[in-house]
Amino acid sequence: MKYFVLFGPPGAGKGTQAGAMVERYNLCHLSTGELLRAEIAAGTPLGLQAKSLIEAGNLVPDSVVEGMIEAKFRDTKGVDGFLLDGFPRTIAQAQALDSMLSKSSESVTGCVSIMIPDSLIQERIAHRANIEGRADDARPEVVENRIRTYHAKTEPLIDFYRKADKYYEIDGTGTIEEVRKRIFTAMDKL
Ligand code: AP5
Ligand code: MG
Repeated sequence: MKYFVLFGPPGAGKGTQAGAMVERYNLCHLSTGELLRAEIAAGTPLGLQAKSLIEAGNLVPDSVVEGMIEAKFRDTKGVDGFLLDGFPRTIAQAQALDSMLSKSSESVTGCVSIMIPDSLIQERIAHRANIEGRADDARPEVVENRIRTYHAKTEPLIDFYRKADKYYEIDGTGTIEEVRKRIFTAMDKL
């Protein structure tokens, strides 16, 4: 099985590009953000715990997302691998992922990182706010907190995967098609 980490700041285009990636490489798309929003919509205890954290632009506890990912690994059949969108997001989550995979003598195949500048994050999220109505897109101060949280807690993963020789950075600027082509060029070799 292949395990791709789809990495990038909020609004970089992870969700936008994921569909074409799972189709081309027969992967299961696992977005922790989408899984958490589904829990919130269903009003589960986990959703209730996550709601206020997400709406303030903070991360939910590592153990919550790690549990969700491990359950999906166990229950998903018929694919050649997984596309992990928005997970891991902390060094602790990356280490937990490594230890989950090592139980079956597997490891992360590569970290595909879609990179855009902070100024473009604001622009793309402001655009999406009018379309998708996500609670964490509505207020500029929440978006700013998500960007701060990304730099403080998630960006260190770049070095983590660089040191493991598994980091593939993609220029996330330009059109959706241009970014998709760059991603395929990198992933075709992995
Ligand atoms: P999550 O849902 O993962 O949100 P995020 O990381 O902030 O990323 P986004 O979904 O906002 O951005 P994206 O890269 O998918 O961009 P998109 O493709 O939509 O997480 C939400 C929250 O859940 C977190 O804040 C946290 O609280 C919690 N959470 C999730 N995972 C967690 C974890 N592992 N640990 C702890 N907590 C966790 O694109 C954005 C917009 O731009 C769209 O409108 C799109 O159409 C447009 N666009 C995309 N590409 C282009 C392009 N090339 N040109 C023009 N427009 C474009
Ligand atoms: Mg997304």
